[in-house]
Amino acid sequence: MDDNKELISKIKKLKKEKNAVCLVHNYQRPEIYEIADFMGDSLELARAAEKTDADVIVFCGVDFMAESAKILNPTKKVLHPNRLAMCPMAQTVTVEKLREKKKEFPDAAVVCYINTTAAVKAECDICCTSANASRVVDSLEEKRVIFVPDKNLALNVAAKTKKEIIPWEGHCYVHDKIFIEKAKAAIELHPDAEFIAHPECRPEVVALADAVCSTSQMIEYAKKSSASEFIIATEEGMVNRLSMEVPGKKFYTIGGTCLQMKKIHLSDVLTALQEEKFEVTLPEEVRLKAKRALDRMLEIKK
Ligand code: 13P
Ligand code: SF4
Repeated sequence: MDDNKELISKIKKLKKEKNAVCLVHNYQRPEIYEIADFMGDSLELARAAEKTDADVIVFCGVDFMAESAKILNPTKKVLHPNRLAMCPMAQTVTVEKLREKKKEFPDAAVVCYINTTAAVKAECDICCTSANASRVVDSLEEKRVIFVPDKNLALNVAAKTKKEIIPWEGHCYVHDKIFIEKAKAAIELHPDAEFIAHPECRPEVVALADAVCSTSQMIEYAKKSSASEFIIATEEGMVNRLSMEVPGKKFYTIGGTCLQMKKIHLSDVLTALQEEKFEVTLPEEVRLKAKRALDRMLEIKK
């Protein structure tokens, strides 16, 4: 048996023994897909975490995703296999800085991308993901919206809404580095391919896209499209997931690697299950406030 096969079989056995599920983000390593009970984007994973009746949730994704699972399903033991799997964009907004911004714009609603800490979510009116950001913003009564922390996503939403968007100065280092020159070169190289972009990309890149999608929406789009080739502007691991879900079609990535997403290895998942670490814990006061922002988002249907 090779190493991965052995690890996978040990993980599957332990999952059964402990009544555990593995929730896996689309950007995870392909070998992590093998132990997944559910794979998806941030919104789908939040919904899956909310409704699971397993005793243990092993979250293979970055920190804010595991935190969201705990916020939504606090009686479960949520394990995050590698503490270094932290989204750097989520760290660009702090409670103190956000409170200052709220004082500057007291009439504005505050929308937080799900890529934020629980403490920041607790300060916001409503959460959103890449799959529903425009719908969330348009659901609000307020005319002005402070949008944290992704400036690119904020600007992409601003282009579609009548509301005044006040963006935060954060960005994802992976998506922000997908420059327009690279996108144009790929389009020239693959003239028959459709161009699909994640909304964390720069607005000028999004403007070139045939479709703007969350990671899981990319799968649905590629399945339904009559095109047989696609240029994918997001984290490069997404093409593994697309190739698996949409066999027979070709996917060309123009994105780099999210080093934090790749920090989780099969060996970490096995240790997490064996030693029940690293457990996600949150102060109850913060959890309850953050849950309000997530619940309000989850009430908005597709
Ligand atoms: P999705 O919710 O579209 O999967 O995006 C998560 C993310 O971190 C993108 O960088
Ligand atoms: Fe965060 Fe970007 Fe990695 Fe997504 S791809 S987890 S936004 S750093």
